[in-house]
Order: sequence, then C-alpha cells, then structure tokens
Amino acid sequence: MKTSTKIILGAAILALAFILTYRSINQEPSDSLPKYMQVTAIMENSGCILCHNSQPKMPFYANWPLLGGKIKGDMKAAINTIELKSLYDSIASGGAIDTSKLSKILTVMEEGTMPPLSFTIFRLGSAVKSREAEIVREWATDNKHLAKVEED
Ligand code: HEC
Repeated sequence: MKTSTKIILGAAILALAFILTYRSINQEPSDSLPKYMQVTAIMENSGCILCHNSQPKMPFYANWPLLGGKIKGDMKAAINTIELKSLYDSIASGGAIDTSKLSKILTVMEEGTMPPLSFTIFRLGSAVKSREAEIVREWATDNKHLAKVEED
C-alpha cells in the first residue's frame, strides 16, 4: 500500500471513530434509565471522573506534543482542585452524598465551564448540555434524603 493511501485510510478510520463516539455521548442518557444512572452516565460521558480522580485515566493523546502537555497539566490541576470519583461512587451505590461537592458540580454544569476545552476538543459531544445539567439538578432535588453535610 502506498504511504499516501495509508494516511488517508488512517484518517478515515480516526474520523469514523470520532463520529461514533460523538453520536453515543452527545445525546443525554435514555429517559428509561433510573435517574441516578442518568447522572452517573453524564459524569462518565463528560469525563468528570477521568480527571477528578486520584487515579486519572490518561487519554490516548496524553503523550502527544503540545496538547498532551496541556491535558496532563489539566488532569493534575483537576485532582488538586476537587476529587469527584467518591461522589460518583456514592451516587451509583445510593450512599450518603457530599452536598458541598454536589453543589459545586451543579454550578460548573449549569455554567458550562466543565469539562475544559482541552478535553472536549478530542471528545466531541462530551460538553455538558443544558438538559444534562437539568437531569442532575432534578436528581439532586429528588434525593434530599441522601444528602449529608460534610462534618468539619
Ligand atoms: C480535562 C480534565 C477535566 C475534566 C474532564 C473535567 N474537569 Fe473539572 N476541573 C479541571 C481543572 C484543571 C480544574 C481546575 C482549574 C479550573 O478551575 O479551570 C477543574 C475544576 C473543577 C471544579 C472546581 C471549580 C471551582 O471553581 O471550584 C469543579 C466543581 C469541577 N471541575 C467539576 C467537573 C465536572 C462536574 C466535570 C464533568 C462534567 C469536570 N469537572 C470535568 C479539569 C477537568
């Protein structure tokens, strides 16, 4: 195969992979799922628990020049700012919810400031849409009984 053919083929495969990922994560989770599962799906699709995790999972482009350095820096800053995997786990298991973390994620989702551009640029569709922020808000309102205020 000629090199140029390989490049074109490679680009086409990459484009297809992007489109398929985009289609699966750009829509809000199905209404038929219980609400807490819609919330955890949003946190997964939007990468919250990839970055805000004490064991961050580096994306494939983390070792690329330029952007790789940016995403690695962001992931480090993310865990230094707020850890969200434990909140995700509590939501998934119906455990006690850290309300201070919950209100912070609601704020960034409603303002549309998370996930950062360094992430959405490669995971098209990972941005939190207003309907997704609403789902999280509805879940939080319905589940006041799970809430517990940090004891400190
Ligand atoms: C690419 C890694 C990355 C992803 C993905 C990501 N974040 Fe962040 N997040 C950061 C970084 C870096 C900061 C700290 C610097 C800043 O505020 O920009 C941050 C800060 C935050 C803060 C603190 C903001 C404040 O002002 O107190 C919250 C809350 C937050 N992120 C929630 C989320 C949620 C919810 C998601 C998923 C929708 C998410 N993040 C996805 C990297 C990430």
